[in-house]
Amino acid sequence: MTGRGPARARRGAELSELEVLTDAAVLVEGGRIAWVGPRKEVRHLQSAYDEVEVRGVLFPGFVDCHTHAIFGAPRLDDHERRALGATYQQIAAAGGGILQSVRDLRSRSEAELVALSRARLVALRAHGSTTIEVKSGYGLELESELKQLRVIRQLRDAERLQLVPTFLGAHEVPAEYRSRRAEYLRLVIEDMLPAVVREQLARCCDVFCEPGVFDVGETRTILRAARSAGLSLKLHADELAGSDGAVLAAELGALSADHLANVSDAGIRALAASETVAVLLPATMSFLGTRHQAPARRLIDAGAAVALATDFNPGSSPTPGLPFVMSLAVSQLGMRHAEAVLAATVNAAAALGLAGDRGQIAPGFTADLVLCNVSDWREVAYWVGANLVTAVWTAGSACPLPSAPVSLGIHVEA
Ligand code: NIG
Ligand code: FE
Repeated sequence: MTGRGPARARRGAELSELEVLTDAAVLVEGGRIAWVGPRKEVRHLQSAYDEVEVRGVLFPGFVDCHTHAIFGAPRLDDHERRALGATYQQIAAAGGGILQSVRDLRSRSEAELVALSRARLVALRAHGSTTIEVKSGYGLELESELKQLRVIRQLRDAERLQLVPTFLGAHEVPAEYRSRRAEYLRLVIEDMLPAVVREQLARCCDVFCEPGVFDVGETRTILRAARSAGLSLKLHADELAGSDGAVLAAELGALSADHLANVSDAGIRALAASETVAVLLPATMSFLGTRHQAPARRLIDAGAAVALATDFNPGSSPTPGLPFVMSLAVSQLGMRHAEAVLAATVNAAAALGLAGDRGQIAPGFTADLVLCNVSDWREVAYWVGANLVTAVWTAGSACPLPSAPVSLGIHVEA
């Protein structure tokens, strides 16, 4: 499954046109794809290349364009409270939620967070993700936000993964600023943002634009400052309730507007008329126990560029697997298999500003490849929750895959 085509997000009917070659070959040179096509056409070149024979379906490495992968403990108590009927907002009000992860992350050392996060990112890669966006947002104070972003940088340098770091200092107002919101905004804009930019710790800036968290006016102020500082923009928009975050994302020329379970008709029209990618996160709504999902069909039919991601985080989406998200996209969002696969490759790359480099098996693209043990490419979005990935290459080199399931929780020291 090459995904070969224009180096930009696909929309409308284009999003279900995907190229599948049988008995194919891929030539890799210097970490990039040099050629892809029928295997018989490369036989005469064979001796000049190291050859790896594979069986199954080869995909472009999956692109997970929205995660909160740097955190401490899982939030098992939130999960249980929700099972007994509490809502995400009630749990947050009772001391759980994002602020619990904030207290936890602040108390951990950078080294400890590197160890926890390495295991989790290895798990994401074992499910086929080779490019992963990772947000801060569990620090909510200068040093802790920088600590989180430095963890991302350390892991990017140490592991063969493309990590795209995003500054999310406006994920929530921390407890100590609850009665002083304006001061917290000033801290984000005047202290955190310049420090993040000075240390080159982030490529994008994101805000949780949601009633009760940051409103549209506050979000606009933060994101304008981020844009002036040279960062690309992303928004958590219209997730639990609508506030026309999607309209704002389009207005600001953001790379993406994410979640969108409660996007308005005006938001759909604004996204369709813009370059902003609509990133849908069905695992989140499913984990939160609601059947209410983003209107994927209406977004696609209106002409918006739709992508998919895990939203991997301890509170609302503890899943490492993009294939699981693709299966939810088909069964819960009404997307076709082809739409789901292109949304997790080509369009997810576009949501990170990487449409010219990742997400396709096409000449010139980075040779990030994922092999799945299936005979029909649609199976990747069919076997719900199964991990069918048997090999992963990044920039043309094979990555080690864990021989046993990776521990995603707090590691018990021997
Ligand atoms: O994308 N919406 C805000 N942030 C996350 C949840 C993070 C958390 O609960 O820790 C989300 O769902
Ligand atoms: Fe999120």
